[in-house]
Amino acid sequence: VAASHMHDLIPLINKLQDILSAIGNSPLDLPQIAVVGSQSSGKSSVLEAIVGKDFLPKGNGIVTRRPLVLQLRNVPPHAVPEGEEAVDVAEFSHCPDRVFTDFADVRREIEAETARIAGDNKGIATDPIRLCVRSPNVVDLTLVDLPGMTKIPVGDQPSDIELQIRELIMGFITKPNCLILAVSPANVDLANSDSLKLAREVDPTGDRTLGLLTKVDLMEPGTHALDILAGRVYPLRLGFVGVVNRSQRDIDQGKSLEFARKREQQFFATHPVYAPVASRCGTTVLARTLNQVLLAHIRDRLPDLKAKLNALITAKQAELISLGGGDTAHSGQSPASTVLRLITKYAAEFQASVEGTVPASA
Ligand code: GDP
Ligand code: NA
Ligand code: MG
Repeated sequence: VAASHMHDLIPLINKLQDILSAIGNSPLDLPQIAVVGSQSSGKSSVLEAIVGKDFLPKGNGIVTRRPLVLQLRNVPPHAVPEGEEAVDVAEFSHCPDRVFTDFADVRREIEAETARIAGDNKGIATDPIRLCVRSPNVVDLTLVDLPGMTKIPVGDQPSDIELQIRELIMGFITKPNCLILAVSPANVDLANSDSLKLAREVDPTGDRTLGLLTKVDLMEPGTHALDILAGRVYPLRLGFVGVVNRSQRDIDQGKSLEFARKREQQFFATHPVYAPVASRCGTTVLARTLNQVLLAHIRDRLPDLKAKLNALITAKQAELISLGGGDTAHSGQSPASTVLRLITKYAAEFQASVEGTVPASA
């Protein structure tokens, strides 16, 4: 019983995220995974590899200029009506009436929506874009793509851009419910890793940080990342995973993600050094690890989340009463009562779904 409920936990959290973002700033700290790293370390490439679709703007320089909250929702094959083929669909919360099936359109929409708020030069904005992708080929995950850390302003960026980006990232990763996917390019000494430095500030014990080494293919000949992947260089409870994604040249030459995934598998499986640690390598391993880590994390946090949800309902009830009594015929239509109804309905659903996964004492 618990296992089938567990399966529904991530969608349940996603739904809560939607409700709370629709009513303004979320007072709850919901479990999600933030992807953190220096600019062009390969963050967007990793997300694309996990989804298996070309849909993110990427490249050298500052490309990701607003946070992108990406909800991945697995559609099991039995959920597809008979005779129909399962298609991958994407929806943005800023245009809920439009269903995207062409992922090149998704990329164009992200670009347009980034420019709309953050301008069309190199500025950043803190307001997230929210995207949901449903597919039989993804595992349930909620990931946040973030602008990369930089040191100096370029283009029309203000002089304090380094600080602004840092604050933006911190806004996500200081929350105890946020897991940190700390990206470090393997061709740069790990001692210089911006992401591990930042993660350490908010998670000094390394309990909620998963290390990710990108660009393993670009290491100096004669060097390798075995010690890092084996946890002998930098200790993280969740460990390190290594990946190889498409180079800029691959992208320019139109190499597909399927091609890249096969090449990556082959790279690790046939590599004399990495073959013995293949279980810590590759995008498939990464996606599975992230899903497991997020599930375990949500489960740990359920009692706390339940208490906060109840507190939120109590607060909204009080707000409604202070607005002129919760029992007049009028109040049924007020925005506050709509919010209250939404959250109360959700809380009941939440309660039903987590039954059996939370210790009775909680
Ligand atoms: P972000 O700024 O961290 O989001 O980085 P991007 O995903 O935009 O990638 C920056 C550049 O690095 C792009 O040109 C990618 O093609 C390239 N890149 C990303 N990952 C890898 C990798 O594993 N190997 C190689 N060779 N290039 C990569
Ligand atoms: Na980049
Ligand atoms: Mg990016």
